[in-house]
Amino acid sequence: MYVCICNGLTDTQIKSAISSGANRTHDVYSACNCRAQCGSCTASILCMLRSGRNEVENASQLPVSIAN
Ligand code: FES
Repeated sequence: MYVCICNGLTDTQIKSAISSGANRTHDVYSACNCRAQCGSCTASILCMLRSGRNEVENASQLPVSIAN
């Protein structure tokens, strides 16, 4: 699904950037070799960043035998 129409970025590309270490919207655009243009997608990317962080935090709270 396209998240950023201006740059043609899909949710898969954005998730990949986040799992590769992007922590801010700027990092996501940079990882995808583009930059924000109209800014309409910024809220969606922020939401994906927060979800990504929550997944990491939740995984770190799992018992070691399940998390690994
Ligand atoms: S939709 Fe992403 S910058 Fe315009």
